[in-house]
Amino acid sequence: MNKIVLLIAIAFLSCKSNEKLVEPTGLVTTKAMVVSAREEASQIGIEIMKQGGNAFDAMIATELALAVAHPQAGNIGGGGFMVYRKANGETGSIDYREKAPMAATKDMFLDKDGKVIKGKSTETALASGIPGTIAGIFEVHKKFGSLPMAEILKPVIALAERGVIVTKIQAASLKNNRETFIKRNGVKSLFSQVYKENDTIKYTALAATLKRIAINGKQEFYSGETAQKLVAFLEAKDGNATIEDFNKYQAKWRTPITFKYKKLKITSMAPPSSGGICLNQIMKMIEPYNLAQMGHNSLKAIQVITEAERRAYADRNYYLGDPDFIKIPVQELVSPSYLEKRMKDFSFDKATKSTAIARGEVKGYESDQTTHYSIVDADGNAVSATTTLNDNYGSKIYCDELGFFLNNQMDDFSAKAGVPNLYGLTGSEANSIAPEKRMLSSMTPTIVEKNGKLFMIVGTPGGSTIITSVLQTILNVYEFGMSMQQAVDAPRFHHQWLPDEITVEPKSFSKTLMEDLQNKSYFVNEKDKEIIGQVDAILVLPNGKLEGGADRRGDNKAVGF
Ligand code: DON
Repeated sequence: MNKIVLLIAIAFLSCKSNEKLVEPTGLVTTKAMVVSAREEASQIGIEIMKQGGNAFDAMIATELALAVAHPQAGNIGGGGFMVYRKANGETGSIDYREKAPMAATKDMFLDKDGKVIKGKSTETALASGIPGTIAGIFEVHKKFGSLPMAEILKPVIALAERGVIVTKIQAASLKNNRETFIKRNGVKSLFSQVYKENDTIKYTALAATLKRIAINGKQEFYSGETAQKLVAFLEAKDGNATIEDFNKYQAKWRTPITFKYKKLKITSMAPPSSGGICLNQIMKMIEPYNLAQMGHNSLKAIQVITEAERRAYADRNYYLGDPDFIKIPVQELVSPSYLEKRMKDFSFDKATKSTAIARGEVKGYESDQTTHYSIVDADGNAVSATTTLNDNYGSKIYCDELGFFLNNQMDDFSAKAGVPNLYGLTGSEANSIAPEKRMLSSMTPTIVEKNGKLFMIVGTPGGSTIITSVLQTILNVYEFGMSMQQAVDAPRFHHQWLPDEITVEPKSFSKTLMEDLQNKSYFVNEKDKEIIGQVDAILVLPNGKLEGGADRRGDNKAVGF
């Protein structure tokens, strides 16, 4: 009998999070907020809401303002995902992920011996999937927009014409990539020029493209002048996209992944992103443990989280892909009994070896760019969106005539089973290339509710580390009692099954902790990533005000009123 009482008490205690009240340390505003990778973009999102626009109008404005102000990831030549929660509690999501062109083939990045040709899926015109961003924003506008599209685009076009000031971080990034820009686009190209901090770059060609889109609508990008010119541009570079590919592209509304973690309800992106399923698996695997008691970034907490991540990523790499092409056993992968079984062989004594894990039976490395923004409007509608060109500046192929970079999202497919992509992720048949298929993503735009009310909007870039950065940000607030800004700024670690290592942000974890992990047979990699993620998040405080978390790791900025 006593034993039963004890077990119930343990179960109850381990289900409790750290729910003490925390002083905010980020920007606090009363009504609305946008947190994004650039102040100019957050500001434009807020401007639109001040003009009476809702969170969805602000989403469109912010997305496109990032295409201007944050060209390494903001885009109209790429794609993304958005998760939303309306003030009435209704949730949903849209997939504006790129698609493989119709001429794509399973082996298109292999040589005659079946080996992956280095750079072909990342540096060439064949690296680009058909962009989804413009289709995405028009779908969002059709369903939820309240201001005319031309009004929403006005400040974005003005920004492109006025130009954007180069920040210190951006100057370094442009300098690092200049040689590649010259190689890909010639010496005359906009990004082949030398830029210093505080210079202003004017985006005249992009402004003209956006103006045509404002006048002609979505079709400008998918069948009009822009489409024609883009296809000709890609063709001249031996690309395989046709005008028919552009005509056929459609953004898709998808039912998001939702699950509970203690008192939280999490809503995140469904396939073709792996984000929601992976986050669901990891959070359910760690739920039985008392993380709050173990402490933030403590040996035990890192062990539990790492082992759950290892198991989830092993499943990701085998089972996940485009749901329009393959059958994904979603229910099985997130079922409590399966996840419980999955953690059965975990022990605090010693690391599990990834080679011993593989996928469960059910019936890399990156340069940094993709970008996430979080929005709440004055009515309480919330938007969480992540958008990307994949690599920093995508394929780095820039169309000067139209004013934008092309994505290299084809690299997110598994070019060959078991061969790692840019992020060290390996894949299988489920994520092999096929005409019109969407490549598997890790983007994890997420919205969290607590006790039925909006609690947090969160997401980040970071390739394969996106999922684990979102996870840690939620846990930092809910389990470890941090403010939104502290949660975003806290040092991060990551495990993705293969390679079998814990990647940590350099100089952020104590020597003793690293030694303790090594003593438990974990391999710790402190060298390969300068930073992990750039989270932009918003927390709804108990008094209803909003706290922004704009990641210290970049030019991120919260703006609100
Ligand atoms: O969709 C994905 O998972 C990747 N293309 C995201 C790339 C990314 O986050 C790069 N930025 N750090």
